Amino acid sequence: MIEKEAYDEFKRIYDHAIESCDTSNVPDKYMEAGYSARFDPAWDVLSKLEPNDRVLDFGCGMAWPTVLGRLIGLRMVAVDVPHYNYADERDFVAIKKAFKTDENSFELPYIEVLKHLMGLGHDIRLLDTNLFPWPGFAENEFDCVFAHWSMGKNFIDNGKTRDELNELYERRIAEMVRITKPDGVWYVSPMEDIRQIKRTKIFRNGCKIHIQLIKKR
Ligand SMILES: C[S@@+](CC[C@H](N)C(=O)[O-])C[C@H]1O[C@@H](n2cnc3c(N)ncnc32)[C@H](O)[C@@H]1O
Repeated sequence: MIEKEAYDEFKRIYDHAIESCDTSNVPDKYMEAGYSARFDPAWDVLSKLEPNDRVLDFGCGMAWPTVLGRLIGLRMVAVDVPHYNYADERDFVAIKKAFKTDENSFELPYIEVLKHLMGLGHDIRLLDTNLFPWPGFAENEFDCVFAHWSMGKNFIDNGKTRDELNELYERRIAEMVRITKPDGVWYVSPMEDIRQIKRTKIFRNGCKIHIQLIKKR
């Protein structure tokens, strides 16, 4: 499928999803960020993968990469926590403060939209990845992990959880290493998240997984 076709179909699916759900508690600015802001970084990465590659959309938000990935023949699994929602704008304020960013192209999971997508057969798992072990993930399962604004330690050191000694973060990374093939690739954004990942012991001990930055257009 060429980029234009994929974009049109992607837009059609989300137009329909958003029409079918009550999005009144989603702040306008997140709806207005536009589809290109969500489509472009995912297309740049996912269109380069091999057909049938198995890809984890980690901290999927509204699962944009998952929808695109299926359109172009990838086997996608999306994960996000069940408890965030737009109803609590304070989550956003805390995250933005932690990231020191005005970036509007990412979002929290809007559970109604995710449920709609599940109804279309997407494999979207509502799971708090700070709790271990993760159910239902096999060793060496994924060719690729796609993590757009979701791999920062901020998502552990917020709310009620504290991870002073980095133990939870290392455990989470270890779990992700376990479920990724030894020659798998992780695409991560922003750069600070890559630094945080590389600082963990598991990577210092010689993990072979390649980590690359998701480039912005
Ligand atoms: C800034 S948003 C990015 C969303 C999406 N990747 C995007 O680019 O639009 C961060 C995402 O990570 C998710 N997240 C945070 N902590 C998580 C956890 N412990 N387990 C799973 N997902 C988590 C949040 O719920 C949120 O959807």
